Amino acid sequence: MKESYEKYTTAYIMNHFNVSRQTLYNWIKQGLISEPSRDWRGWRIWTEESIYEIQDVILNKKSKDYKNNNFLEVNELYINNRRYLGSKYKLLPFIKNVVKDQCGHVKTFSDVFAGTGVVGHAFNKVDTKVIVNDILYSNYLSYITWFSDEKYDSVKINKLINELNHISCSKENYVSRNFGNKYFTMDNAKKIGAIRQEIELISPSLSFREKAILITSLIYAIDKAANTCGHYDAFRKKMDTIQPLKLQIPIINDKLNKNNEIYREDANKLVRTISSDLVYIDTPYNSRQYSDSYHLLENIAQWNKPEVCGVAKKMIDRSHIKSSYCTMRAPQAFDDLINNIEAKYILVSYSNMTNKGNGRSNAKISDEEIIASLEKRGEVIIFDKDFQCFTAGKTYIKDHKERLFLCICKKGKKF
Ligand SMILES: C[S@@+](CC[C@H](N)C(=O)[O-])C[C@H]1O[C@@H](n2cnc3c(N)ncnc32)[C@H](O)[C@@H]1O
Repeated sequence: MKESYEKYTTAYIMNHFNVSRQTLYNWIKQGLISEPSRDWRGWRIWTEESIYEIQDVILNKKSKDYKNNNFLEVNELYINNRRYLGSKYKLLPFIKNVVKDQCGHVKTFSDVFAGTGVVGHAFNKVDTKVIVNDILYSNYLSYITWFSDEKYDSVKINKLINELNHISCSKENYVSRNFGNKYFTMDNAKKIGAIRQEIELISPSLSFREKAILITSLIYAIDKAANTCGHYDAFRKKMDTIQPLKLQIPIINDKLNKNNEIYREDANKLVRTISSDLVYIDTPYNSRQYSDSYHLLENIAQWNKPEVCGVAKKMIDRSHIKSSYCTMRAPQAFDDLINNIEAKYILVSYSNMTNKGNGRSNAKISDEEIIASLEKRGEVIIFDKDFQCFTAGKTYIKDHKERLFLCICKKGKKF
């Protein structure tokens, strides 16, 4: 099987992150980053996982410096720099290893419930086409930022981000009226409203991608300034997230984005129209709708300024972004999805923290239902996070939280 991992030398890492060799060694010693493997000369060989780990260490360090009033300008933004329910960022090494070992080089990787997009992004290579999709518009705009190859003027974007960071924002606006002193400090709420309105005003001079980049930068900044535990079903009573909102510059590598496709569709409809080597499935697990958890980001991304209601100030009509995977219809929706996929491999993440049942956090699809749907398409292998694998017929450890179900599809109707 062809090795699909990128490898980097220590010199490349030092140069790319502007850190010294000693700093890297200290971080390894402190357990902040994993010890990389070595080549035949004994030289360290760094992988993409190392890069993700180093990005995290740098960002954590910068946010600690901020809290200690030792503020360093944090200018760079990466795809994983946001909080998102069910994000698989921490599971990327697990997912990548299963794909590498079982499927080899994947030419088309479809991430059809992409959320933050970090899984699709981990497979985004010059020789791999990535298809990303989600029903939320806020996520769609972020995919236009991270996965498109439509040309944009980076100098103009940097200048605009700087100007937006210094916008005058003393007046009341839609965001401050509805969300001020709730999800954000009043100052941050006024700034969010003023920035979003300004993006709308200047949009005739922006390409669609440039507008998407500015809104994405705002959405990521909102996440850092929100007085929440990572979603917008509720805000914390005590206002303890007070740092001023600041937009950062997305670091985008368009060279990897040549053939990607970006959608905002119901995944069940989309799979009927695409063909891939591998389709990765990461549906919502329980009755918690993402349209509820991220109503505020959706509201700001769309900017139709709708009436909001209830303590959580949600848009009244969210029916167009409700998911059947959060309802009793989930097993049927899953079966229909799997049936209509055209791929060599189907890889499913499904968290089984709780058994199937009616409670809000109970899984909507049982393991047996997942396996039954997948077995109609081919051989099923189940992996747990410790990289043990089990065939579907044998007993496997049910209380393992993070599993991957890999279906090696039979050639037939769909492929
Ligand atoms: C568990 S999250 C995916 C997390 C993602 N893998 C990550 O690492 O960030 C599930 C996603 O599916 C989306 N979704 C729910 N129902 C959908 C549907 N029918 N079609 C497409 N996307 C859907 C939600 O908006 C949510 O972003």
